Amino acid sequence: MPAEITFAADVGTGLVAAHQVCKTYATGEAAGRLVLDHIDFTLKEGEIVAILGKSGSGKSTFLRILAGLTEPSEGFASYRGRRIDDPVNGVAMVFQSFALFPWLTVLGNVELGLEAQGVPLDERHRRAIAAIDLIGLDGFESAYPKELSGGMRQRVGFARALVVNPDVLLLDEPFSQLDVLTAETLRGDVEDLWRDRRVPTKGIILVSHNIEDAVFLADRIIVFGSDPGCIRADIPVPLPRPRDQTNPIFRSLVDQVYALLTTVPGTEAKRRAEPIGLGYRIPDASIQQLTGLLEALSQPPYEGRADLPKLAESEHLSTDDLMVMVETLQLLGFAQAGGGDIEVLPAGRTFAAADLQHRKQIFNDHMRRAVPLAAHIRRVLDERPGHSAPEGRFLAELEDYLSEKEARQVFETVINWGRYAELFAYDIDSGVLSLENP
Ligand SMILES: Nc1ncnc2c1ncn2[C@@H]1O[C@H](COP(=O)(O)OP(=O)(O)O)[C@@H](O)[C@H]1O
Ligand SMILES: [Mg+2]
Repeated sequence: MPAEITFAADVGTGLVAAHQVCKTYATGEAAGRLVLDHIDFTLKEGEIVAILGKSGSGKSTFLRILAGLTEPSEGFASYRGRRIDDPVNGVAMVFQSFALFPWLTVLGNVELGLEAQGVPLDERHRRAIAAIDLIGLDGFESAYPKELSGGMRQRVGFARALVVNPDVLLLDEPFSQLDVLTAETLRGDVEDLWRDRRVPTKGIILVSHNIEDAVFLADRIIVFGSDPGCIRADIPVPLPRPRDQTNPIFRSLVDQVYALLTTVPGTEAKRRAEPIGLGYRIPDASIQQLTGLLEALSQPPYEGRADLPKLAESEHLSTDDLMVMVETLQLLGFAQAGGGDIEVLPAGRTFAAADLQHRKQIFNDHMRRAVPLAAHIRRVLDERPGHSAPEGRFLAELEDYLSEKEARQVFETVINWGRYAELFAYDIDSGVLSLENP
């Protein structure tokens, strides 16, 4: 469909919108993998919308589709009533990693966005300096990226997006690689720019897995479900700005979103009650994290039960890390989450109370039962004549379901768990798996 065709009738007054958007990525399987499933979404003028969801739920893919950087497999995205087929001029994006050109100064990096639009040199200079000023980097125009802290580099990322005076700003986890204080400062500065209308931007979408960031910044929070990505909840945040994180409504919204992110909805629960498949994206929790959390949870003040937001705070865990651990503990049958709480199950209590050898045994049992890949690796090793196999064959099998990068990550997690549980041995140099005690 040509870009000139407008959809004003169906599309309404949204800034950017998605209309029954689906996205399938190619995998080893013929059908490919469905990553976004019929997403309908509208960003209204004057709105900040936050999108929260597990890693891999398709949030980045969704933003890229709205920016015109990725094409949907079905459905379409629109910008001010026009179908998006190419990158859109009024839409700018800020990414998680700072992606600056090391050989260009701050000024050079910021001007880059304007060069692409054919803005003359003088005006480029003027506007870049104004954007650098706006985001609090005044005086650093001639610095190189390597001379800047992570927080300052991300400010350059923002300046580069803001210099084009974007109508819509798409932020893909812009604070997630910054330390907590730096992230909070930058988040506050972005909110100031927005509240004081110092930027002409009419709408922002913020992808995050930090619930506090979402409740702090957004007028509306969308919760993505995963496998395939879909919209599970759309929660308004009716709080005046600037927001007070200690306000009881603020806290109860955080709890509500926590509960949504850690409980599995009806249809997903039904599907998950069936055994998970080989291609299940095992959360990459480390053994130390898991044992540490189970130990803490089994002792006072928790005694086996905790409120998740409180737990994150008192154990100094980021939401992301806690989510990964909660999912793993549930997967392994050590704990159960619901309503924003976590409860340790009897197996988890036994594990926490056991000595190292017994812990390994319990972990071994649970892992074999809950993680098909672990059971599969063990079966192959049991059956092979030399009781060993190269990692490549397992990675190739995983790539039928997962991208190469994900396959590697899932494999490494299972290797770490399996070595701990003495389910199998793994030689890092040769990449060969074997049975320790065949
Ligand atoms: N270019 C790509 N090719 C194949 N698979 C991809 C590609 N980009 C993302 N994926 C896969 O799609 C899923 C969703 O990815 P992504 O949109 O990055 O999720 P999120 O941002 O929520 O973590 C992941 O499983 C990811 O591995
Ligand atoms: Mg992402």
